[in-house]
Amino acid sequence: MKIFLDSADIDEIKEAYSYGIIDGITTNPSLIKKAVDTRITKGEKIDMKKYITEILKVAKGTPVSLEVTETTYDRMIHQGRKLYKTFNPIAKNVVIKIPINTAFTDSDDRQMDGIRTIATLSKEKIPINCTLIFTPEQALLAAKAGAKYVSPFAGRIDDEIRDLNRIKYEKHDYFPLEGLEKGKVLEDNGVVSGIDLIEQCIDIIDMYELETEVLGASIRNARQTRECALAGADIATLPLNVIQDLLKHHKTYEGMQKFTKDIVIEYMHLMNGFKKENTKKNTKRNKFKKK
Ligand code: E4P
Repeated sequence: MKIFLDSADIDEIKEAYSYGIIDGITTNPSLIKKAVDTRITKGEKIDMKKYITEILKVAKGTPVSLEVTETTYDRMIHQGRKLYKTFNPIAKNVVIKIPINTAFTDSDDRQMDGIRTIATLSKEKIPINCTLIFTPEQALLAAKAGAKYVSPFAGRIDDEIRDLNRIKYEKHDYFPLEGLEKGKVLEDNGVVSGIDLIEQCIDIIDMYELETEVLGASIRNARQTRECALAGADIATLPLNVIQDLLKHHKTYEGMQKFTKDIVIEYMHLMNGFKKENTKKNTKRNKFKKK
């Protein structure tokens, strides 16, 4: 499974890419707002074009999703094309993020603008990440429209199920993939958890051999990341703290403490010897270079 960083903060992006395991970046307007607010609070000014350019360069050719801000077909088409034309030449890694449906309510007439935009831009070979997926059928239509990625929002479905059932929780609390029971299994339109949503999207896309990659989004903790991988997601996009949490285990710490305590002097000398040899070699090479 590929791992994307879910952030627009350049410091977080540099930090995450230094780990050597990041395959891409997803941003959204809320993440950009958070990054901008952080800089403004520090008294810095932001030149958005330069800022996005820096993100694209740090990503070193791995895909970076940039979301449109418009909500109607004509405007999203214009913005998507402009965004792609302006930024893709920098590092050839821009993906345009389009919501599956830009309507605010059932009676809003923008219901089909998202899908039409995805179909048109995909035909123009602009890679699309279709965002705000909350049902497997939304994922099916986005894939049929040619989206390169579909992003089911796992954490927000878990939030919805808990909110509808008045269950208190913290954002990072684990939600069981098989769902929660309160007399019966709680669900949202046949989806019992965020991971279940991701699994159902994968099943449909695989069954019809569609090319689209399933990008598990709104992932809130390490265990949910594991379940996303086990479900067979192509990608999980994770906030920096969740990426860091993937490595934490108290038995690993305990093991480190014991191994460090158990190092015998003979082994330590051998290791220190390696260090000295390297230093000598470097010194020789440096002297040679100077000549
Ligand atoms: C990524 O593409 C999504 O915008 C993001 O994962 C949403 O996460 P959130 O539900 O934690 O805001």
